[in-house]
Amino acid sequence: MSNQDNDTIIELKAVSKRYGFGDAESYALRNFDLKVKRGEFIMIMGPSGCGKTTLLNIIGLLDKASSGEYILAGKDVSRVSAGKKARFRAKEIGFIFQNFNLVPTLPIIENVSLPLIYAGYSKTRRLRMADNILEHFHLREREYYMPYQLSGGQQQRVAIARSLISNPSIILADEPTGNLDSRNSHIIMEELREIHSMGNTIIMVTHNPALTTYATRVINMLDGEIDTDIKTVDDSELPKGGKGEKVSVKVLPSRDPIKMEIQSESDVVVSGDNVTTEEDADVLIMPEEKPKAPAKKTAKKTTKKKSTKKKGAKK
Ligand SMILES: Nc1ncnc2c1ncn2[C@@H]1O[C@H](COP(=O)(O)OP(=O)(O)OP(=O)(O)O)[C@@H](O)[C@H]1O
Ligand SMILES: [Mg+2]
Repeated sequence: MSNQDNDTIIELKAVSKRYGFGDAESYALRNFDLKVKRGEFIMIMGPSGCGKTTLLNIIGLLDKASSGEYILAGKDVSRVSAGKKARFRAKEIGFIFQNFNLVPTLPIIENVSLPLIYAGYSKTRRLRMADNILEHFHLREREYYMPYQLSGGQQQRVAIARSLISNPSIILADEPTGNLDSRNSHIIMEELREIHSMGNTIIMVTHNPALTTYATRVINMLDGEIDTDIKTVDDSELPKGGKGEKVSVKVLPSRDPIKMEIQSESDVVVSGDNVTTEEDADVLIMPEEKPKAPAKKTAKKTTKKKSTKKKGAKK
């Protein structure tokens, strides 16, 4: 057990990353201390080579510190096995990279569904979930395109969809707008803003000072250390509601009316355009075919929930 407060999701204590030995020894990170609260949107800036990517890779469990302690969601992950790290990463962390990192030989829908392989879903299930999230990103009509057939901005939106599909609570983005023009950068930043407003924690590296307006905290690094660290939003004002509380599935108005297939309806609430469920509930949203015949069992359940909620609201 750790003595962290509940709001702290990431804590690095004196983390160093060393390369080389003897005269050739150098530090990518040096005694780095960092505490990140749930719901922060942190921008990391600093000159090339100062350790930004190294820091993200360590936070994202893609790389290991040479020394120091790393506590993630209350667990000391400095010494856990590679297998456990991979599982945690697949479930809790979404990555977005500057060069999108899509698999060139797979269609968009399969690229997006990749992280779900680690979560053990069947292929049909993975593709349905990918189809659903691609619709949110207005990319459904291109889901069987190959990555090279999309623009840079579209590829990055696919990469964001992929990073979100396993519903992670932490998004790590390494210069996600670095290869995009200002219009597409803006679109990507608006997506990240929305993801953040749902209560997720985002740590993003950028060279563009103009983007720091999206952040709640700006850290400037220099030679593997923190140079300046400025919070622009008070901790008490950080958005709530990320993983660990509730997840929201947006019902797109364009697909109305909708049928919901709820396999675990224990804590499902339908309210307006939003379906809220406990994180493990299994909610898929699909276009309704035609509700002429009496509604099926699953649809009934949904209707019941919906009307219950509405009645409650009227009281
Ligand atoms: N595998 C490696 N072997 C040796 N040195 C490395 C290795 N990976 C990174 N470094 C060094 O660690 C330092 C930090 O690298 P890092 O990639 O984290 O920088 P960065 O801040 O992300 O830079 P940029 O803005 O150019 O992406 C650099 O000096 C780099 O040369
Ligand atoms: Mg880098």
